[in-house]
Amino acid sequence: MTKYVIHGGKPLYGEIDISGAKNAAVAIIPAALLVDGVCRIENLPQISDVTLLLRILQELGADVRTVNRTTVDVDCSHIRNARVPDELARKIRASYYLIGALLGRFGCAEVPPPGGCDFGGRPIDQHIKGFVAMGANVDVHGGYIHAKAKQGRMQGTQVYLDIVSVGATMNIMLAAALADGMTVIENAAKEPHIVDLANFLNSMGAEIMGAGTDVIKIRGVKRLSGGTYSIIPDQIEAGTYMTAVAAAGGEVLIKNVIPKHLECITAKLVEMGVEVEERDDAVLVRRTGKLTRTNIKTLPYPGFPTDMQPQIAAVLCLAEGTSVITEGVWDNRYRYVDEFRRMGAQIQVDGKIAVIEGVEKFTGARIQACDLRAGAAMVIAGLAAQGTTEIGCIRHIERGYEDIVRKLSGVGADIRVVVTPDEDKQAQVG
Ligand code: EPU
Repeated sequence: MTKYVIHGGKPLYGEIDISGAKNAAVAIIPAALLVDGVCRIENLPQISDVTLLLRILQELGADVRTVNRTTVDVDCSHIRNARVPDELARKIRASYYLIGALLGRFGCAEVPPPGGCDFGGRPIDQHIKGFVAMGANVDVHGGYIHAKAKQGRMQGTQVYLDIVSVGATMNIMLAAALADGMTVIENAAKEPHIVDLANFLNSMGAEIMGAGTDVIKIRGVKRLSGGTYSIIPDQIEAGTYMTAVAAAGGEVLIKNVIPKHLECITAKLVEMGVEVEERDDAVLVRRTGKLTRTNIKTLPYPGFPTDMQPQIAAVLCLAEGTSVITEGVWDNRYRYVDEFRRMGAQIQVDGKIAVIEGVEKFTGARIQACDLRAGAAMVIAGLAAQGTTEIGCIRHIERGYEDIVRKLSGVGADIRVVVTPDEDKQAQVG
């Protein structure tokens, strides 16, 4: 078993470089399927979700060449296969983008249902509603989602999303880029990674207008050709390190960010007594005094991101007074609460609401990461805790954070990766 061992209670000082955005990368890699030529994708985060998606493209027949640590050349010109391998795709949520991309390229797709973090139900009915409106038949049998454009190509149309969905917005954009005619997505999501996907596709020759607003128009083109594109910095990785400084104290310059994307997080940290100074492409985060309580409601962008909810909860656990979190996106995103309680946190959860009574400190404990952002929040709690925290199931964290141990060690955290072979055997037996 591999775990993180953290000796907490040390403030953080120094600089951290932010990697490319996971949730942009996991859409842009499938988008390369639409391109007839070589796409050079720069600023890719080195995380297991990216590795998996690149392997899926290779299995489909793409030529994938590593240029350097963060850059790959992907050439999908010769792919003829629209059936995605089962065992790889089930490990990752974003495999659903392969449906839109393959439908756009070939007019058909066979993709296993997506995996990813468990937050209660994670339906994809809005994705399917979009594909059907664009002229596809979609059904599930034999453990696969089968989608086929009735006229051979996707047809532009108007799609009104019943729910603001990041995944459905991007998937419909992928299906529409090479469609016949104009597709209009109404009630679209506005996250920075949606704008990034549109910019990627436009740089390859697509005609997408309005990304970042709630109406996106995609005029289908005949062909996308190759080019070079650099992925935006990861808003959530940056926010995670901002909250780490808020919880553990200290002063850290968080570099290679777009401060505008962080405003929803900055505003809440400032309310809590954390100092945040915006620079051109960096934010300086300083916390020396006490933390004060606040309330948080997670919402689609530009609201406070649900993907920062567990991390900000770790900070609120240490703030004076009572804070209330309302989870406005997912049904069940409080699975980390039991683990926080082991560390001394006082949290009551009722449905989508968590009430947190601030405590003086966390105390180190043995805990398990239950999903990606919950795992990151446990790291934050461990950094602030008195004593030693051991976090298991770190594969969840490594799906989405590049080099988290190195980045935190670089600002003075005492965090190590420990491999215990005996426990590994026990786990296999048990
Ligand atoms: N929803 C539906 N039907 C759909 C799609 C979504 O009811 O067809 C509901 C969901 O159940 C949820 C809400 O709409 O209640 C929003 O879901 P959305 O589709 O926006 O989420 P997603 O695309 O599956 C992406 C990120 C998540 C992030 C959400 C919200 C990726 C791969 N995942 O998921 O990121 O929480 O948007 O911002 O981009 C993470 O990075 O840790 C993560 C979970």
